[in-house]
Amino acid sequence: MKRDEFSGFFGVLVATVGSAVGLGNLWRFPYLVGQNGGAAFILIYLAFVLIVCMPIIVSEFIIGRRTNANTVKAFQILAPGTPWSIVGIVGVVAALAILAFYTVVGGWTFDYLVRSVMYVFSKPDLSSLEQQFTQMVTSPVRPILWTILFMGVNAFIVMCGIKKGIEKYSRIMMPVLFVMVVMLVIRSLTLEGAREGLEFLFRPDFSKINTKVVLAALGQAFFSLSLGMGCLITYGSYIPKQENLTKLAFSTGIADTLFAILAGIAIMPAVFAFGISPEEGPGLVFIVLPRIFAQIPLGNVFAVIFFAILLIAAITSVISLMEVVTAYISERFTIKRKITVAIVSVFVTVCASFSSLSQGVLQEVKVFGKTIFDFFDHLSANILLPLGGLSIVIFIGWYLKKEVVYDEYTNQGTLKGTLFNACYFIIRYIAPVAIAVVFLDLILR
Ligand code: TRP
Repeated sequence: MKRDEFSGFFGVLVATVGSAVGLGNLWRFPYLVGQNGGAAFILIYLAFVLIVCMPIIVSEFIIGRRTNANTVKAFQILAPGTPWSIVGIVGVVAALAILAFYTVVGGWTFDYLVRSVMYVFSKPDLSSLEQQFTQMVTSPVRPILWTILFMGVNAFIVMCGIKKGIEKYSRIMMPVLFVMVVMLVIRSLTLEGAREGLEFLFRPDFSKINTKVVLAALGQAFFSLSLGMGCLITYGSYIPKQENLTKLAFSTGIADTLFAILAGIAIMPAVFAFGISPEEGPGLVFIVLPRIFAQIPLGNVFAVIFFAILLIAAITSVISLMEVVTAYISERFTIKRKITVAIVSVFVTVCASFSSLSQGVLQEVKVFGKTIFDFFDHLSANILLPLGGLSIVIFIGWYLKKEVVYDEYTNQGTLKGTLFNACYFIIRYIAPVAIAVVFLDLILR
């Protein structure tokens, strides 16, 4: 049977941008920008995306498309009889670990979207917003039900396959997402006090740059671009042979960055207009923004738009994570896609329920000193991703033969391969050092 694939350039692009654009862009990026010197941080972030990350995206695509296989099998094909396929396994574990907390936040988002549709935020009882949030996340049943619903939507899409599932729904959701973000940006820019927020975002303060800021920028670039665990290897395995991988990687990186900056412009002016500290973290989205929506004209409409944006962004990221696991299990054990997705969804939902409960009744249960929710977060973002990313660049830069990499990069010699030498140099020397530094910083902290 022929393996499913994306239909063409645009199809791949909406899916990879969908994977990249997620909660990482919508609250983490603006918040990090705030803490780390505004425009100066953005410039460093851009440099990392362009110089370090783009070649890594290309690397993942090369591994995937060369082999047309899931991330574990891809390594087995390229490096038979070696332990390299462990990198693929670690990627699958990382996907499950991310899913175990990300889907809980997806559930919260669903809950808040429905609340805003039901006009909850139009009656400004401001003091209760924080209480509402705490009550929601700590309650034992409600967030789990929303997480189950959220998983159901994702499971449905992944069950439909690549072209008829992931690509089809990304084609609808990504343009909607873009239009809604632009609407939110316009609303935010027309608030009184928007100027201050923009200055905060775009007035560079180079004195704030230090190693911590630089590392934060690199870490964020990795997370935001879905790098380091085989997500883009898996999607790469569905890219048609004639597509230009460099062009795809650059478009993905640029689109993801554009979304992050638009999210900053949408959120910061509003935050400043209402005199709120930009360093609120997760609460920024669920506590602070509803407060703002309650006070602005057409606020409720924009509340609905905002939570719809979050939900869509979360869905298109979660399906990419589920696909990593689904492709592996269904190909490894020859199980039908639909059944695999069902198994994976149940497993993820069980893990997610524990992370959800760890916000409330299971608060006292600690894994390595962290709540279950924080443990999954820490394990994936701070340990598995950098390890995986490091392994991938070493694999491409030092293990695989240069001719093989070049051959796939240029579509079997049909493309000129203009930037090949620059990319290869980065993958061989610069990227491994950069990742190693971030990794060491994260674990030693
Ligand atoms: N990039 C997504 C975000 O910004 C999250 C994500 C999806 C991810 N797939 C990933 C992160 C793979 C790391 C690895 O929210």
